[in-house]
Amino acid sequence: MSRFLSRATAWRLLTATAATAFLITSASTVLRAGQGAGGTTGFGPSVWDGAFTTAQASRGQAAFEKNCSSCHGPSLEGGEGPALSGDRFWADWRESTVDYLLAQISKNMPYDDDGKLAGTLPAPMYADIVSYILSRQGFPAGSTELSAQTAQGVQIIRREGPGDLPAATLVHVVGCLEVSGSNYKLVQATRPTRVTGKVNTEADKAVALGSKEFPLKFVLTPLTRYKGYRMSATGSLVGEGGSDGISIDTIRPVAESCQ
Ligand code: HEC
Repeated sequence: MSRFLSRATAWRLLTATAATAFLITSASTVLRAGQGAGGTTGFGPSVWDGAFTTAQASRGQAAFEKNCSSCHGPSLEGGEGPALSGDRFWADWRESTVDYLLAQISKNMPYDDDGKLAGTLPAPMYADIVSYILSRQGFPAGSTELSAQTAQGVQIIRREGPGDLPAATLVHVVGCLEVSGSNYKLVQATRPTRVTGKVNTEADKAVALGSKEFPLKFVLTPLTRYKGYRMSATGSLVGEGGSDGISIDTIRPVAESCQ
């Protein structure tokens, strides 16, 4: 009996030590991530913190060469499909997240005419391929492998931190309609968010407005009767962050007044 107790005590001691060791390791991981982040500390997890491992990126390279490089180029420079590196990578994926990139690729690639190949690779292989793409973009490797779980919320941002969404990004905004002649503008508008699925216009009725202003371009239907209404719009940004407005795809009233 006493032998059993002492064993139990020993076990408790052991697990306590293990837990302390774990705490120390994770604290130092956080520190290292912060140091390697080159100024991104404070912005939350990002690609600068090491989102994949070196081994995983080289597995990803092999899988990429087999399944993707015929269309995207052996150096990701593009071909039948778009480039997956350099400026094009930034334009397509900046201010999104690694889980979004992984989900897009897992759902849509490899590409073929009837869409039969889309989504056919094993999930860990897609994660390996994304690791390779991230490594080619110059993001550092870390100590944890990338998976659908670890990719959650990992921001794809410049080293300096988050910025405005790139020009031509498909976005959603809510704001108040201002009309002058045939020119329309959304004022008190929310920060544009990337459209990644169906837009929830029900939520748009209550969302807190912001301080952005966007001239609306290519509006095909007259909106004069919605002057002063709260509007929900989707479209693509003209200029970085929509500095020159939004090229409208859809726009609809969500409330008759705008507070
Ligand atoms: C047979 C040619 C082909 C193959 C193989 C292929 N792709 Fe593509 N890929 C394309 C084309 C074409 C597009 C553009 C499709 C579109 O815009 O609808 C595309 C789009 C993409 C995009 C979106 C790019 C963007 O700018 O939004 C990514 C990312 C991508 N492919 C990654 C991959 C990966 C990773 C693989 C391998 C698992 C792969 N592709 C295999 C042809 C291919």
